[in-house]
Parts: sequence; structure tokens; C-alpha cells
Amino acid sequence: MRFIDQVDIEGKTLLIRVDFNVPLDGNVITDDNRIKAGVPTIRYCLEKGAAVVVMAHLGKPKGEVVDKFSLEPVAKRLGELLEMDVPLAPDCIGPEVEKMVSGLQPGKILMLENLRFHPEEQGKTPEERGDFGKKLASLADIYVNDAFGVAHRPNSSVVDVPYHAKECCIGFLLKMEWEHLGEYLKNPERPYLAISGGAKVSSKLGILNNLIGKVDHFIIGGAMANTFLLAKGKTVGKSLSEPDLVVTAKAIMDKAEAAGTKLHLPVDFVWGRDTEKAAGICGEDDVPDDAMLLDIGPKTIDEFVKVISASKTIVWNGPMGLFESPEFAEGSMAVCRAMADSEGTTIVGGGDTDAVVHKAKLENQFSFISTGGGSFLEFLEGKELPAFKALKENM
Ligand code: 3PG
Repeated sequence: MRFIDQVDIEGKTLLIRVDFNVPLDGNVITDDNRIKAGVPTIRYCLEKGAAVVVMAHLGKPKGEVVDKFSLEPVAKRLGELLEMDVPLAPDCIGPEVEKMVSGLQPGKILMLENLRFHPEEQGKTPEERGDFGKKLASLADIYVNDAFGVAHRPNSSVVDVPYHAKECCIGFLLKMEWEHLGEYLKNPERPYLAISGGAKVSSKLGILNNLIGKVDHFIIGGAMANTFLLAKGKTVGKSLSEPDLVVTAKAIMDKAEAAGTKLHLPVDFVWGRDTEKAAGICGEDDVPDDAMLLDIGPKTIDEFVKVISASKTIVWNGPMGLFESPEFAEGSMAVCRAMADSEGTTIVGGGDTDAVVHKAKLENQFSFISTGGGSFLEFLEGKELPAFKALKENM
């Protein structure tokens, strides 16, 4: 891998792929963390005397120009963070963009308009993507990928540009993700613990299958634990579960036992008749028929906290309950606090989990918070992400 600080960039024009796919309310950015995370690479390049062209996507405009997905608010916010003007080009390819880029002076920046306004960006085959990647690459001397959040998408700006660029390298953000998730987790300090939560076993099967056997302990919480309860022969009342995956859950439990990974499942719960109000606490053997299990209970919290405290490497994805409601947030908060207190290496990723950490205001007490959502999950599933494949083949 070649990183940005190993490349001579002075006087060069750089095309930096970032993931600034931020949530918007109208044209107000409601969470600018992804933009902030991209600033160090951009600032470094500007200070080193490069002309910087930034390219990004926003939302899912499906290959059409959709005004509400313009990167205008993003360019404005980036300008505030960099304390300089960040002009937005009217498009990302074409003669007008080429003119703006060729007039760009060292130390200056230009943002290209939403890549996904062109259907080729998300074309499923090389034919559908056409020469879009080639046109983008031709804008600059060096392509810099700093977009972990989109590293799992075979989009043209991620998988085609490296093949056409004169030179490629990795920015500081992607480097950090690669070091923590790729390199560190290849040989983690033990005991190594994975924590998985969220609604569905089906969306976490890849992680379970990849990590069981690699981790020493695996904590399962959230509604996905309900399917495991069914596999243990328990009942879950009216809770969310996936009865068609009970056999799979049983197979996962057997696999964990054979592979020496200790599975930790909840033994008690905070339940409600609706998602507004908690009705009480129940054990795994006395779940009321009309109960929805919406958070892990106090005994489970004690057990999970003990496992977390004894671990040296902890990777967490997915909340323990319906944390958006204060009535059902304590399980996720307790896991978050225990991780923050841990002296081991703590790695978190995924939108909901990131939200728990920010809600608890503990974001500065983790070893690493990934900017990836889907890409973080695919990394934990052990998949080679298309972005890394394309970069490796072109370095
Ligand atoms: C994300 O927000 O997870 C990335 O930017 C990828 O966006 P997408 O899911 O729309 O491809």
C-alpha cells in the first residue's frame, strides 16, 4: 500500500475520493462527522502545495441530476472547516470541469458535483460504467482514495479510476481504517471479543460465520438474540425474531462450541407491550406472551460488562436494544461505557453503534471509530473490499 505521505505531491493536481455522504434535513447537514474525518488528508495536500480536486457522492439520485442531492451544502461546510473557499463545479466531468481543474492553483481546492448524477458511476458492469472512470482519472496527476464508507461499493470512482490514474495512493482516513480493521485485527491481542447486536440475524450471518473461531468470545444482543433464544427452545412473546433462521442459529451455536468461541446470550430483558414504555424485567424462562423484548436486562449487563472488562481487543457493531428510546437504551449505554473504560483496543463501526457512542458522549474514549457502515460490516465479514482490490492492483 502506498500512502499519501509517501508520495511527492507538490505542484501536482490530486483527485481525492472522499465519502461525504452525510445526513441532511433539507439542505442542513445534521451530522458532519464524515466531512470532519476527511479534512486531515485534504489539509495536508493543500499545505504541501497540491491543487486538490475533491469528488464525492450524496444520497441515491440514481443517475439523474436531483437538486436536493447537490453537494452544495457539503462544499460550504468543508469550506468552513478548512477556513477557505471551496467552489463547487457544476458537474464532475466535461469541458467546463476540465477548464476549472486546469486553472486550479497549488494550495487551492475545487469540489466536483455529485458523482451519482451520472448513471455510469454505479453501473453494474464495465460496459455500463463506460469511460466515466477514465474521464475522472484524466483530471489529475494522482488519485487519492480516502473514502472508506464507500469502499464496499464497486462504483466507478472507486474501482475504475485507479486503473486509469497515472499514480494512486491512500489518504490518512483510509489508512487508519486499513490499519485498525485490516492489519491490527489480523493479529489482535487476546482475549478477543466481538459484540454484535441490532435487529436481524440475517444481516449479521456473514460476521458470525467469519468471526466465530477467530474470536475468543462473542456477545450477541439486540433483537437478533431472540432468534438464538428460540434456538435454545425458549419463547420470545411478540418480539421481533426470524423463526426461519432458528436452524441456522443452532448451527452457529454448535460451530462456536466446536471452534472454542464462547457465545454470550442475554439471560434477562427489559420488555414492553409497545415500544414507548417499559413494562418490566423478565428472565429468559418467563417471557410474557404479550412481551416485546426491547433491551437486555441487569443480569445480562453484569455478565456482558465482565466479559468486556476481561478482553484486550473488542469490536462492536449493533445496539443491544431499542436505544433510540430512553426506556430501552441502558443495555447499549452500559456496553458503551464498559468499552470506553477498557484498557484494551476498542473498535466500533456502523451507523447505529456510532450513534450510541455519540449519544453517550464517549467518542473520544475508543481506540477507533470506523466511518464505515456497510463497508465496516463487509470488512468484518472477511470480504475483500473492491476499493482495496483496485488500489492493490494499481500501486
Ligand atoms: C454510506 O453512507 O454508507 C456510503 O456512503 C455508501 O452509500 P450507499 O449505501 O448509498 O452506497
